[in-house]
Amino acid sequence: MLTEAANEMLTRVGPGTPMGNLMREYWIPACLSSELKADGEPMRLMLLGEQLIAFRDTDGKVGIMEHRCPHRCASLFFGRNEEGGLRCIYHGWKFDVEGNCVDMPNVPAAQDFKHRIKAKAYKVVERSGFVWTYMGKREQPPELPSIEIMMLPEEERMTRVHMRECNWFQSLEGDIDTSHFGFLHVGGVEMEDVSPSDMNRWAVADRAPDYKATETDWGTMYAAYRPADPGSVYYRFAHFMFPFITLTPNGYFEDQLACTLNVPMDDTHTMTYNLGWKKKTRPLETLKNGDWIPGLQPQVEYLPNTTDWFGRHRLGT
Ligand code: FES
Repeated sequence: MLTEAANEMLTRVGPGTPMGNLMREYWIPACLSSELKADGEPMRLMLLGEQLIAFRDTDGKVGIMEHRCPHRCASLFFGRNEEGGLRCIYHGWKFDVEGNCVDMPNVPAAQDFKHRIKAKAYKVVERSGFVWTYMGKREQPPELPSIEIMMLPEEERMTRVHMRECNWFQSLEGDIDTSHFGFLHVGGVEMEDVSPSDMNRWAVADRAPDYKATETDWGTMYAAYRPADPGSVYYRFAHFMFPFITLTPNGYFEDQLACTLNVPMDDTHTMTYNLGWKKKTRPLETLKNGDWIPGLQPQVEYLPNTTDWFGRHRLGT
């Protein structure tokens, strides 16, 4: 069991906290690339407890910066995204995607000091359908993660996203915990319902697996195991990868192209991205009568997005 102090240390991610400092050593998915349109509305973004603004400029470049204008702290969320930058609604100062002040229209030309002004902006790159940001202090950020599912052509990859009202560690634990599978996902299934060729039959037959775990260079790996057909053992392997990525066993080994990113928005909200492969070689499991296993194909509905800090990708059911 975690102590209360250890739990606090693991789950507090704001600036200056130990875990917040660690998270800032990695590239973080800030949002989906599809959420930002050139010259479109700026978007409120909560990441690691920081209130940020994301926008895509006229040339398609993305900027992520502190939401408060460096002049008088008006929120740049209300700014106008126009002609290569975001213009603050209060006095008209304009900022490019790197935070440089490129226009200061409320000051006489002779007194213009825009070259001395810079909004706090973070490094940004786009890849694998995500806008990634680096919020750390290193001049040279680390490499982006090269997980197999992220490197596939976009048409082979599906991405689902939803916000969870819990801290990132609760989200990750729930994701990687094999023990819940036999109850939450196939708890309503009996042995006589399961097709004899379905690998889930072993999880139905034995809902109390044993475990092996080991540390790895990238985090930890574990296997939950239980008896399978005579003379064989059924293993479910899962990985935790720093800082908040999981590779969970959600199919046959040759189709195991997936990952989940549990991105901390703040200490109590997490944006969860599930990446999966569209070209699985085996069909999804069904019951003996041909029906889907309900716990493996949950139908979810989303509430309409709002512009609130926590208004995107909210589950309705
Ligand atoms: S507060 Fe933004 S320009 Fe004045």
